[in-house]
This record gives sequence, C-alpha cells and structure tokens, in this order.
Amino acid sequence: MAHPLEASTHTSPDNQQQTAVAVSDLIKTVVARNGELTILSGLNLQIKSGESAAIVGASGSGKSTLLGILAGLDQPSAGSVVLADTRIDHLDEDSRARVRGEHVGFVFQSFQLLPNLTALENVMLPLELVGRKDAFKRADDLLKRVGLDQRTDHYPRQLSGGEQQRVAIARAFAGEPDILFADEPTGNLDEKTGEKIIDLLFQVNRENGTTLVLVTHDLSLASRCDRVLHLHGGVLKEAE
Ligand SMILES: Nc1ncnc2c1ncn2[C@@H]1O[C@H](COP(=O)(O)OP(=O)(O)OP(=O)(O)O)[C@@H](O)[C@H]1O
Ligand SMILES: [Mg+2]
Repeated sequence: MAHPLEASTHTSPDNQQQTAVAVSDLIKTVVARNGELTILSGLNLQIKSGESAAIVGASGSGKSTLLGILAGLDQPSAGSVVLADTRIDHLDEDSRARVRGEHVGFVFQSFQLLPNLTALENVMLPLELVGRKDAFKRADDLLKRVGLDQRTDHYPRQLSGGEQQRVAIARAFAGEPDILFADEPTGNLDEKTGEKIIDLLFQVNRENGTTLVLVTHDLSLASRCDRVLHLHGGVLKEAE
C-alpha cells in the first residue's frame, strides 16, 4: 500500500532499514466528565526495524495511550499510524487484529492474563490460535526462560504479580513478533529478576531482530535502549 512514509524507507540507498512503526501528527482526545481531554497533541515518531526505544514520562502523560495506538490496540483521533508497512489508523478492529496477530507482541501494564487458563495455557493460546503444532513445547520453553518452570500449572490468581508479569512476557514472545511493545515490563519485578527479564528482552531483540518499544520508569532499562523518548505535553522529545 502506498503511503507518504514509505518514501523515506525506499529513497535513500544508505538507509536499508525498514520502518517498524511510524506515526505523524497523532492526536488522541477522550471525552472525560469535565469535557474533552487531549492526551496526545500532534505527536510524530518513527522507529526502525530492529531498533529499541524507551518511552519515558510522568504518570498520566499518555505513555500507555501512545503504546496502545502504536500497537493497533486503540485508534487515534487524528493522524496516521503505519505498523509493519500497513497503515492501520483507519482500519476496523478485525483488520487491526490481523496485523497485530502477524507482527505484534504486547505486554500490558496490567498483564491481562486469562484467569481461567493456567500459565502454560495462557502462553499456548496465541500459538494454538494460529495452529502451531509446537504450541506446548514452545510455551513450556518460554516459561522456562522466564524462570517459571515450577509454575506452569498455576492459574493467574495463584501467581504473584511478578510471576504474572513473566507469564505475560512469555506470552508476548510466543508468536515470535517482529515488534514487541511492553508497558512497564519490569514494574513488578525485584531487581535481580528484572535484570534477567531485561537481558532476555535484549537477547531476543539481537537474535531475532525484534523491534522493542518499551514504556518504563526504570532509567537503567531506558539507557540500554538505542533511543530514549520523553513524552511531555502530548508530544515526544528525543533525549540527547
Ligand atoms: N478513556 C479515557 N477516558 C478518560 N481519560 C483517560 C482515558 N484514557 C486515559 N485517560 C487519561 O489520560 C491520561 C494518560 O493516561 P495513560 O494511561 O496513557 O498515562 P501513562 O503515562 O501510561 O501513566 P502511568 O505512568 O501512570 O501508567 C491520564 O490522565 C488518564 O487519566
Ligand atoms: Mg501507563
């Protein structure tokens, strides 16, 4: 599909890297009790394939809102969103779900595990949905990698917050996404477990060329990313 942002990835011979996600003039307003609230106010961003970017900013500055729009979970009020070479801002939920299913992994701030499925079943689900025969083995391996091999049969309510977060991370990796969005991926983890999870995120970023877009308050995590972007006043500023 032709769109204005494609030109920038194809015209420069020096720039062979594809764009993973790009937004221009992004606006998000919501209707609150005391009137319309502008959360994002004309924001621009381009992230290349394989890049890692941290989005930082005060609580309530709109980081989760932005991440949801970048990942095609939510729609902007205005502006364009191009995800994995597809313009998604005007697509309906079903079409956006298809793009997400093919390209996107998402770790929610609130985990959003399915309560009636065990840890293993939560990680297997996205694999079973696309008919992968190795769903059990892959889910089992991923839970080992996040240190939960002793907890595969536990339901979310039987897991600590940090353990639920690790199941959510394993689930996000399950479909080998091109782009992984993670909202505070280490927010509920102790320092040592957090470091292990961060190492895993960057290992997958290196080995599979996965693009990483993280929201974090953790400055040591942010500083490990290729780019740090500050969200303030509804727009992003790149850190020097
Ligand atoms: N659907 C909505 N209706 C009304 N207000 C909303 C809605 N969604 C978000 N907001 C408001 O928009 C602002 C941004 O919310 P968002 O969750 O994106 O912030 P955040 O930067 O992720 O914060 P935190 O660091 O605390 O997670 C908040 O003030 C929130 O109350
Ligand atoms: Mg948030």
